[in-house]
Amino acid sequence: MSRLVVVSNRCTVPRQGSAPGGLAVALNAALRQQGGVWFGWDGSVAESTRRVPQQDEVDGIHYATVPLARRDYDEYYKGYANRVLWPLFHYRIDAMQFSNAFREGYRRTNAYLARKLLQVLESGDTVWVHDYHLVPLGQELRAAGIKGRMGFFLHIPFPPYDVLRALPGHVHLLWSFAAYDLIGFQTVNDRDNFLDCVRRGTGAEVGEDGRIRWGRDSSRAAAFPISLDPADVQEMARSARDGRTVRRLEQSLHGRPLVIGIDRLDYSKGLPERFLAYEHLLDSYPETVGNVVYLQVAQPSREDVPEYNTLRLRLEALVGEINGRYAEFDWVPLRYLNKSYARPTVMKFLALARVGLVTPLRDGMNLVAKEYIAAQNPDDPGVLVLSELTGAAHELGSQLLVNPHDRDAVADAILTALRMPLDERKRRWREALDVIERNDIFHWADCFLSALDATSGR
Ligand code: G6P
Repeated sequence: MSRLVVVSNRCTVPRQGSAPGGLAVALNAALRQQGGVWFGWDGSVAESTRRVPQQDEVDGIHYATVPLARRDYDEYYKGYANRVLWPLFHYRIDAMQFSNAFREGYRRTNAYLARKLLQVLESGDTVWVHDYHLVPLGQELRAAGIKGRMGFFLHIPFPPYDVLRALPGHVHLLWSFAAYDLIGFQTVNDRDNFLDCVRRGTGAEVGEDGRIRWGRDSSRAAAFPISLDPADVQEMARSARDGRTVRRLEQSLHGRPLVIGIDRLDYSKGLPERFLAYEHLLDSYPETVGNVVYLQVAQPSREDVPEYNTLRLRLEALVGEINGRYAEFDWVPLRYLNKSYARPTVMKFLALARVGLVTPLRDGMNLVAKEYIAAQNPDDPGVLVLSELTGAAHELGSQLLVNPHDRDAVADAILTALRMPLDERKRRWREALDVIERNDIFHWADCFLSALDATSGR
């Protein structure tokens, strides 16, 4: 078995003994089994990027990390990755801020990361590249003579051709996928969008089975819906850790059912639409006024990207309006928290909630949806109100699927969830949990790596 080299934009070296998140758990398991290293940006911005990658070993996993230069951070991370590809791949051409400087920064930083990675690569290594920041990395490595198997997994959606076409240089971007033997997507829909873009944008030959002939090289594209470790989520939701915080939340509800949303503060998550749908619930069903609590945790994210700041101001104004209109001296309808909590605390919050609200306008998968299901108490599970525009909706059809743009439908679904009898909640929840247990995060990593291994290589 060849060594595995995982590459992601962000590579946070955990502290000794700390609990890693979902993706890290799965990749760590694969790294332990095959040996290898996790490579990426250490999250810092440095004056000089001349030194060799910093190597660390924590709990048996090797990490190699590098800083970014200020200009690369601005043009590659903030610019092309998060103001061009992120909005475009989430179908938001209107929010895309294209510039040639950003595009050049993206190319230059991928070349820089490839040069640094070459210092830790060994011949025959299998390389697994993650997400939209690093599409051209494979091509840079191939140009440097790397022949081993290379896979790419896109964690976010892949848009249809007519959306992708709005990106100057999209044909070039499509060709850079040719470096990979296996290209993975969250859903069949994303894979089909990609194959259609390749067919129409590059003229490469695309087969029914997801095989692509780029000329001399060939790749395979397939769907691998990402997941989590349900046992780990259950353990966090039930463990005694953080008991005090959760008790405080429970006491503060005074027996009212809790509706919860946990998201990064990102415009793809549909937070303004969700707040307005909740206001519509209070408006249309007066019996809910004073009798339900909605807690929205919006974790700060990409705060120096202007669009995120604009969204934060909009949300603050909306929360002010809704609470100003409905709050009583002893009840606040919408508790809005612009901060992050430790993972175990989040899982316990999810476990307490009668309704989980996951209503993005577009999302590759959305793991909070799966976490909500996994965290529920089997004797009294809650109900998920889930946007049909998420990858998770392809697997969690037993929950209440909604169009996040339809305020009436979201409000009605919250009410249906609040009123749903225990038997029905249990039945729907069991169905959803079965899906997650069948395809957990270890199964996901195994499927991708076995499929990569089965490719013919270069
Ligand atoms: C999404 C992306 C990840 C990214 C994460 C956090 O889930 O798919 O690649 O790491 O957001 O965003 P950030 O910009 O803070 O890395």
